Formats: sequence, structure tokens, C-alpha cells
Amino acid sequence: MIAAELAEPDDFEAWRDEARRLIMQGVAPEDAAWSDGTGAMDLFAGPSPVQSGSWREVRASLAFMDLARSAVLHVDPARLGLLYRILWRLQDRPRLLDDAADRDVVALERLAKQVRRDIHKMRAFVRFRAVTDEDGGERYVAWFEPEHRIERANAAFFVNRFASQRWSILTPRLSLHWDGAALFEGPAAARGDAPAEDAIEDLWLGYYRSIFNPARLKVGMMVKEMPRRYWKNLPEASQIPDLIASAHKRETAMIDTGTDLFAQEPAPLSLGGVAEGIARCRRCPIGCNGTRAVMGEGPELAELMIVGEQPGDSEEREHRPFVGPAGQLLDRALGEAGIDRSRAFVTNAVKHFKFAPRGKRRLHQTPTANEIDMCRWWLDTERALVKPKVILALGATGARGLLGRTPAIGRERGQAIAMADGSTVWLTAHPSYLLRLEGDAREREHARFAEDLAGLARILATITIEATHRS
Ligand code: URA
Repeated sequence: MIAAELAEPDDFEAWRDEARRLIMQGVAPEDAAWSDGTGAMDLFAGPSPVQSGSWREVRASLAFMDLARSAVLHVDPARLGLLYRILWRLQDRPRLLDDAADRDVVALERLAKQVRRDIHKMRAFVRFRAVTDEDGGERYVAWFEPEHRIERANAAFFVNRFASQRWSILTPRLSLHWDGAALFEGPAAARGDAPAEDAIEDLWLGYYRSIFNPARLKVGMMVKEMPRRYWKNLPEASQIPDLIASAHKRETAMIDTGTDLFAQEPAPLSLGGVAEGIARCRRCPIGCNGTRAVMGEGPELAELMIVGEQPGDSEEREHRPFVGPAGQLLDRALGEAGIDRSRAFVTNAVKHFKFAPRGKRRLHQTPTANEIDMCRWWLDTERALVKPKVILALGATGARGLLGRTPAIGRERGQAIAMADGSTVWLTAHPSYLLRLEGDAREREHARFAEDLAGLARILATITIEATHRS
């Protein structure tokens, strides 16, 4: 047996270097004994002289490296051996990962998924409490118990998110401390090391109670999304049994009184209020992913509203809608159709960026119908404030946010759809779709997009003429 050892169990780079070394020495998976610095080691393994192996170049797809980077953080001691076996097999079968029935591939995907889920949970459920630091300044402290070894991998997220605050996250394996400029790692902590309550907690409790919508309460689902073991660390958890018990009564009361089941809070009376509301919104899982909500922008009253799908990577970073590649295409096409973007209110059906992490990249994910429907309340509020006469819906998500159903864009584009509030919805394709096309299809779809925008410009011209006649 050949021993392969990581000094730290979550050190992906160390695993990669060890794995590369073993493959280059021709060490078969069954001859490698992995240990990860936690004391769990194969009893039969021992340092033994390296056998002469077949030196070769080591190959691995990016997709594998991505999955492996997550899976390494799993607490399963067998993960390192599994990763090595897959890497070994990839040398002869570079497309192994496409075999969805392969047992190793299934196991790898399961590990990676569990770790990613844990990462997401930590981002969503860490709750900071304010304490006074030794120097009299404020520090936010949270206690969290991750299932897998995700603490270090998640640290950058919290640094980006709360860069200007001082905070500490205490966990049973280690603690992370940010002083506004540098990140420090400290020893394992105990739950009692984190403060139990303070004034901020009261705010949380009130907020949580206000967003706890009984109509959407499915007990099984809630437990899945917020496993019981996280509850003990959430200040609002103490309210959960209570809230579940009273949910049915509250729901019945809401139906009896005809209350809008989504309208749990009064609709904001200004766009500034919408911006504040969406920043706090946790109605759906996208709102819990730690990204910044992106507000619509444009005149407070606008004849034209443009509704896209959701902010993308650039939009989330710049905190403005349609500033990335799709936005640039849209701006060009609007300009060519003679429509001035600066006079339109540009927004999205979904206000948070839904993505899947792939290494350093964030890959766009399409929001589900349910997520679009939950965000619709905000879009409706924007519409009620901006009062557009014409609304351009870009793609199926934008259209669903407006119509409450998912239309076939191919069939319904270029037709005026009359809305109950007197406005007109005009559908076209999403610019991101155009960006993905090539060759003839690209030209054809660009031309159709231009035609749709020309049709929109004609409607806008009619409105302007009507307004001129009235005045
Ligand atoms: N795509 C969208 O739908 N909206 C944006 O804001 C950017 C890209």
C-alpha cells in the first residue's frame, strides 16, 4: 500500500497534488491508502517505497475538478479514495462523468450535492448577534454547526458579504474572525461561546413572524429547507412550533377575510421602499442565497417598462439591471428601434440572481415557476408605482412574472396583450437567448427581435400621439 496523506481534511489542492503524484507513479486505486489528517486512516496502509510506475500526464475534466473540489469537503472518510478511483478511471475514460449510471459517478455527485447544500444552508442560516468588542467597537458573532467541512470554503462569501463589519463565526471545528481587513482562523468553539441574545434578535423575531406566511407553510418542505438541526441556532426557531400550530387557523382566517395570501406586508408606497423590501425578502430560496437583490431602474413614472428574467452575474456585482452582455445587446437593439432606454423603467421578474457555483464562476440557473410567482408581488408593486402603459416582456420568465402563466413566446410574440390595469404587454425573446445562438439561427432571431422592437416603437408612438392630442 502507498500512503497518501492530507495535513488538513478540506485541502483540495493537497488532495490534487497527492493524486497527481500517485497517478504518475502508476499506483492503482486499491493500492492507495488515503488519510486526511483527522486520524482516520486505513489500518493496512503504511509508508512503503514507491513502486516504479508508468509516468504519464494526468488528465481531468473541469467538471470533475469542480465536483471534486466540493466532495473533498464531505465528512465521509471514503471520499478521498473515491475521488482518486474516479481520477484513475478518467485517464482511460475521459467521458466517464457522462455515465450517469456509473456507481462512482453517482456517489461523487451525491457527495458534491450534499456539500453544496450545506454551503447554501450556512449562507442562509448563519445569524449574527451584535456584541461589544474589547476596544468598545461592535462585532457580530454567530454560532453555526455545519455538517461538512465547509467553514473555510465559505469564508470568502462572508468576507465579501460583510466586508465592512467585524464578525466572527464560531463552529465546533474552528472559528473564523474578520476584522474588516484580514481573516483569522481560531480554534473550535462551543455553542456557549456565542452570545445568546441581544436587541438585534428582537428585530429578527419580529421580521420572521411577519414573513411567516401560513398559506405557504408545508411542514415537510420547511423541514427539508431548514433542517431541524439548524433550528436550535436560529433565534426564530423557538417560534416555529408555535407558528406551525397557529398556521392553519391563520390561513383559514385569511381565506375567510379574502386577504391576499402573498400580501403579508403592506405594499411599499415608493420605489425606495421596494428596494428596501427586496433586499430583505426571503420568500423563496433565491432570496436566501446571499446575493444582493437588484432593483429596477428608470424614471419613477415611465410609459415603458421592460421586464427581464433576473439579474445575472454582472448585474448582481454592479447592482443594476441589464448591464452585462444581454443588457448591451438590448441597449443596441432598443437604440436601433429608436427607443430610448433611459426613458424606460428596466426591471426583472425575479430580483435575486439564481446561480450554481462552479469554482470561481457563478453559472446562471433559470428560476422555477414557483420562484417567479413568489417574486411577482414585487413586480406588481413596481408596476403599480411606475404605471407603465406598455410593458415589454423579455423571454418566458419576464412574461410569467407579468401574466401569471408561461406563454409560448414563439406563438405570442409581437401581439399586444391587454392587461386588467389598462396597460399592454408586448412579448419578445430574451436577449440572452440571442447571445447563445450561432450562424443562421442567430441572424434570423436577431431580425425577429428587431421586428418586435420596431412593433413596440410603433405602439409607443401611438401612445405619445394620444397623449399629445389630450393635452
Ligand atoms: N438578464 C436579465 O433577465 N436581467 C438582467 O438584469 C440581466 C440579464
